[in-house]
Amino acid sequence: PEKIILDCDPGHDDAVAILLAHGNPDIELLAVTTVVGNQTLPKVTRNALAVARIVGITGVPFAAGADRPLLRQIEVAPDIHGESGLDGPMLPEPSFQLDERHAVDLIIDTVMAHEPGTVTLVPTGGLTNIALAARKEPRIIERVKQVVLMGGGVHVGNWSPVAEFNIVIDPEAASIVFEAGWEVVMVGLDLTHQALATPEVAARIAAVGTAPAAFVGELLDFFGQTYKDAQGFDAPPVHDPCAVAYVIDPTVVRAVKVPIHIETQGTLTLGMTVADFRAPAPEDCRTSAAMELDHGRFWDLVVDALERIGET
Ligand code: BDR
Ligand code: CA
Repeated sequence: PEKIILDCDPGHDDAVAILLAHGNPDIELLAVTTVVGNQTLPKVTRNALAVARIVGITGVPFAAGADRPLLRQIEVAPDIHGESGLDGPMLPEPSFQLDERHAVDLIIDTVMAHEPGTVTLVPTGGLTNIALAARKEPRIIERVKQVVLMGGGVHVGNWSPVAEFNIVIDPEAASIVFEAGWEVVMVGLDLTHQALATPEVAARIAAVGTAPAAFVGELLDFFGQTYKDAQGFDAPPVHDPCAVAYVIDPTVVRAVKVPIHIETQGTLTLGMTVADFRAPAPEDCRTSAAMELDHGRFWDLVVDALERIGET
C-alpha cells in the first residue's frame, strides 16, 4: 500500500478524505495532522478525532499543528462548514488522545522514519504545516515520494474569482510548498468541481446502511445546503477525497505536467495558482495539475471504503 500522511482541517470533505484513506486497502495511513482552515485549530482537531471514532481508526497518531497562517490573519469558512467546522451530524467525544508532538514534528519524524521515496504527503487544508515542516527539516523535501494536495485551480477560484480557499488562506506557505522542488500534484477546483455528490451518489451511500455511511449522509446534506446557498451548486463538490483517490489510483484522475507558481503579491489575484500552459512543460518540471475525474470510479472508491469499514 501507499504510505500517506493526511494533513487536514475537517471540514466535511476532509472527513470523507479521512474515511477513504482509512477504508481503502491500498493506503497505509501513517498519521493525521490538523491545521487551522475551515475552522480554528481546536475545532478542526476535535472534528478529526470525532471522525476517527466514527470510522473506527485506532493506532494512528493524530497531532495538532499550526493555529494561524504564516503571515496572514486567520480566515475560517463557517458559511460552508458551519460554526463547528463539521456542522450537521452529532459528533462523539474522542476515543483516544492526541499525539503530544506538534504536527510539524510528527510529519518530520514520520517521513524520516520511513525509506526515502515511500511517504506521500496529502494536504487537504492550508499549507502552513507542510511549509513549516519543509523549513524545519529540509531533508524531507528529497525524502517524500510526492505531495498530492487539494488546493488551487487552473481556470477557477472559489474564495476569489481566481483563488481557492486552501491556497489563499496561507499563500506564503503555498508558495514555499510549490517552490520546494519536490513533486507536487495540484488536485484543484478544475478537478474537484467534478466530484459532485449527486442524488445518485447520496443514494449509493445511504444504501450501505451503516452508522458511518449515515454520518457521511448527514455531512453531505449539510454541505449540499451550504454549497447551494453560498456558491449556487446543485450538488456539493467533495474536494478533499479526490487527492486521496489520486494516490490510490492515479488513473481515476487525469493530471498534466505544468509549471505552477503562487501569486503572493496581487491585490486582486492573491493566492492564484498561476499555471503556464504556453509551451510543453520543461523536462525538469515537478508540478502538475489535475484536470479530469472519472466520477463513477471515484465514488466507487468512497462507497467501497464505507463497505469495508462496516459498522466499526
Ligand atoms: C477546500 O476548502 C475547504 O473548505 C475544503 O475542505 C477544501 O479543502 C476547497 O476549496
Ligand atoms: Ca479541507
